Amino acid sequence: MRADILVLPGDGIGPEVTAAAVTVLRTIAERRGHEFTFTERLIGGAAIDATGEPLPADTLAAAKKADAVLLGAVGGPKWSDPQAKVRPEQGLLAIRKALGLFANLRPVQPHPVAFSASPIKPHLLQGVDLIVVRELTGGIYFGEKTRTADSASDLCTYSVGEIERVIRHACHLAMTRSRRVTSVDKANVLETSRLWREVASRIVRDEFPEIELENQLVDSMAMHLLARPREYDVIVTENMFGDILTDEASMLAGSLGLLPSASLGEGRVGLYEPIHGSAPDIAGKGIANPYAAILSVALLLRHSLGLDDEANCIEQAVASALAAGNLTADLAGGTSAIGTQAATRAVIDHFPLPC
Ligand code: NAI
Ligand code: MG
Repeated sequence: MRADILVLPGDGIGPEVTAAAVTVLRTIAERRGHEFTFTERLIGGAAIDATGEPLPADTLAAAKKADAVLLGAVGGPKWSDPQAKVRPEQGLLAIRKALGLFANLRPVQPHPVAFSASPIKPHLLQGVDLIVVRELTGGIYFGEKTRTADSASDLCTYSVGEIERVIRHACHLAMTRSRRVTSVDKANVLETSRLWREVASRIVRDEFPEIELENQLVDSMAMHLLARPREYDVIVTENMFGDILTDEASMLAGSLGLLPSASLGEGRVGLYEPIHGSAPDIAGKGIANPYAAILSVALLLRHSLGLDDEANCIEQAVASALAAGNLTADLAGGTSAIGTQAATRAVIDHFPLPC
């Protein structure tokens, strides 16, 4: 297969981890006879330095033409003056919105070697394999904001169509997994949540009768996610609840450096990125954990290119590399830790046959 992949390295460790992920993609392309072309563009702080804008027009144009976008991370102390008019994060919000990427998928599958890095007891982590689908382009983050001298407001709005499309997305995903969906809302208090629950229940009843739907309130969900994470499979929720629950869920996996994400829409192009930031404290040292970026390209192969086998190869290779003790500094203390390049090599060396 041929595919054009746009790479947006961004800031801090972004260039280091995207380089690792591209190396893995090139290797799999070579072994499986695919032709991937890679184009690089600027985003975030790097783009502000070069052009004055966090998302230059030619970056967005290249994203619209690509089959998939791989992003590192944006931001850092250099651009974090609160008075600044342009900020790196604006580039990220703008590209998600412009590409209509309304569904943000965050799989969480804690690996046994990282159990000790998690604050949660190991027996609760055994067998956890869940995926959060967060609505990404609606809700309170995008509603009207007001500010007077003594008050402020943020408006939360959802249309039926916005809810339907993300619920359908979660249901399609659940059909490839255990056919269980947990929809999270605050329907006892919020009108948008009452609409969310009505729409979720109707879509499942009318379109996905095989799916078992559980409606859960967000406050108790926050508790259950830590107390019994193994019981969840696909969790779907609105933008702000998803933002909070995915950070909470990341603690199950032990390190931010292990968690990938995919942002998808109805259009062709998807955006893939590790969930961690630009980690300015370790940037340029060659010690960043590349596994989250590498697992993000597994999601790219699966969701944008339909290459499930290749995606599974990469996921298995990362699991085997971890199991064999190839741990970066965020996972291993002291002198036993390996650097970004050695970890990337370890993934390639652990590709299962016949990858
Ligand atoms: P961060 O995720 O960059 O770092 C948090 C901690 O985790 C740091 O100690 C860092 O060294 C460590 N860490 C993160 N990724 C790692 C990896 N791959 N390997 C090893 N250690 C890793 O979050 P922080 O420090 O809050 O933010 C730093 C900058 O990144 C800020 O400018 C922030 O706005 C930006 N950011 C960008 C995101 C994005 O581009 N999607 C997401 C989160 C933050
Ligand atoms: Mg967040």
